[in-house]
Amino acid sequence: MSFYRRANLLLVLFFVFQSCETIPFLQDSLNGKGSFSSAIPQVEGASAKRDRYEFIGKEIIISSDHPLASQAGMEVWKQGGNVVDVFAASSFAISVLRPHSTGLLGGGFAIVHLPAKGKWAYDFRERSPKKGTSSFYLNPDGTVISGKTLKGAYSAGVPGTVQGILQIQKQHGKLPLNVVMAPAFRYAKNGFSVYGDLALAVSKTWPDMNPAMKKVFGIDNRAIREGELLIQEDLAKTLERIVENAEKEFLEGETVKLVSNYYSEYENFITEDDFKNYQVRTTEPLQSSVWGYTILTMPPPSSGVHLITMMNLYSEMQKRNTFPSGNVGEIIRITEAMRVSYRDRAELGGDPGFTNVPVSKLLSASYAKDETNEIEKKVVSGSWPVPKEEIKKPEAYNTTHISILDKDGNAVSTTQSINGIFGAVQMVPGTGLVLNNTMDDFAILPGVPNLYGLVGSKANAIEPGKTPLSSMSPSILLDGTGKTKLVIGAPGGSQIPTSIFNTLYRYLVQKESLYESVSYPRIHHQFQPDRVFLDPEIKESFPQSELPFYQVQYIRHRAKVFAVTREGDRLIGVSDPKGEGVPLGF
Ligand code: DON
Repeated sequence: MSFYRRANLLLVLFFVFQSCETIPFLQDSLNGKGSFSSAIPQVEGASAKRDRYEFIGKEIIISSDHPLASQAGMEVWKQGGNVVDVFAASSFAISVLRPHSTGLLGGGFAIVHLPAKGKWAYDFRERSPKKGTSSFYLNPDGTVISGKTLKGAYSAGVPGTVQGILQIQKQHGKLPLNVVMAPAFRYAKNGFSVYGDLALAVSKTWPDMNPAMKKVFGIDNRAIREGELLIQEDLAKTLERIVENAEKEFLEGETVKLVSNYYSEYENFITEDDFKNYQVRTTEPLQSSVWGYTILTMPPPSSGVHLITMMNLYSEMQKRNTFPSGNVGEIIRITEAMRVSYRDRAELGGDPGFTNVPVSKLLSASYAKDETNEIEKKVVSGSWPVPKEEIKKPEAYNTTHISILDKDGNAVSTTQSINGIFGAVQMVPGTGLVLNNTMDDFAILPGVPNLYGLVGSKANAIEPGKTPLSSMSPSILLDGTGKTKLVIGAPGGSQIPTSIFNTLYRYLVQKESLYESVSYPRIHHQFQPDRVFLDPEIKESFPQSELPFYQVQYIRHRAKVFAVTREGDRLIGVSDPKGEGVPLGF
């Protein structure tokens, strides 16, 4: 174990011992909670890791995908910050600590709920640049140029992360920016130990990196390895400029000049004007009653609406006695709810500034009834065509989520991203920042799948200034009395909404503990490919022979859930045992 790794671990342990009590493993949780739950074990090894990935506190909890990002949040909390300061500190920190997942040239969403003040949905996602049209990505014969939305200068949209964090912190935070950004600055300047997931991302993308990027993520002209120290000098300087100039830095500062200078070699695809014109969008969260709670989630172009539809459809199907009983019936209900929701996403999803997403219709009781009638006909007739198609292997992890909740119900749920692993795999020289590849979240042509196998329609076609459709669905749940109950979200591309669904299903319907709910094997269906994905642990309980009307693939669900819940006066934070993070708190 390297010095830095040990030092990090000691810091985490310091926080853990200083501020938490741990609960013993709840032995009864795997038994007797309904046939579906008792049939299914946790994902491999999850119970052994429980002490690391679960945290109980009373004042505040944060769950993020790096111990030092959680620690950054707690550091500013201890200095008198509120949940929004915690959000800002951990967001800047995670952009330094997970540069393959997110970063200051990326974008994201945040739901902020401050019971005494109000609730907001912030969209600081990337936008298509003014020049952005599908013609950049098509051959003269109208076919798609392979890989152009995935890597390189043209795969990036105009970033919004910095403006988003700064605006939210300015509106609702308490601490000065230099305090909030201090941990991120330290991590960039002094470095941190490279962990397995980051080392893997570096080695995987190494051949595609431009020279500026290789300089940061390489040692002696080879990919940096696990356990080695990653120092990001240019990034530290960029953070310093943000402290000094605040939002001006990404409107007209040095960073903007460096980015537009980089783009002078790429037809000025992104310009200084694109930065000047960038606006964070603030709206009311999308609000709906589901499963006895009020959910606050991101409106389109997020997939929050499809998450709610999925939950509504499941409830509607549960009311009918025409579905098979037991586990098979439950898998059908969940799968069909997912199928319809992802079909809606493919057909209707897009930037509401450009296309009409019929949110009220999708959330209406009559819609859930009508769609369930259609599913019921299929189930009752038994004439389901068994799909047979090739599917893409899921991508590795990237993107990140942070959940924060304090004892007064103040909460932030934020998902941030540069999209694929290391985004465009291009570093803008002099900034230490990696470009996103979020243009791939547009549907280049109707029906052409993106990185996550998702298809879209004209509603999600590339247009200047438009925001690409997103699966990111940060959410907050309030209980029947209006008190904040749960904060949840995940990275994982197309599997984000289903990871949240699976966790809420376990926690609210099957009444498992939050830890077990996060770490249970999952079910996923995304309309296309027409296939049910089940975690390998369920293979024996649910062999293909029991589900003859589906094509089943047993494969690890990719999304990592980060959630915090309130149970009485206890706050319980869980970070997905598939990830590198830990929840921390007081
Ligand atoms: O916004 C989206 O839907 C994607 N850019 C999210 C990417 C993601 O979560 C990748 N994780 N595997």
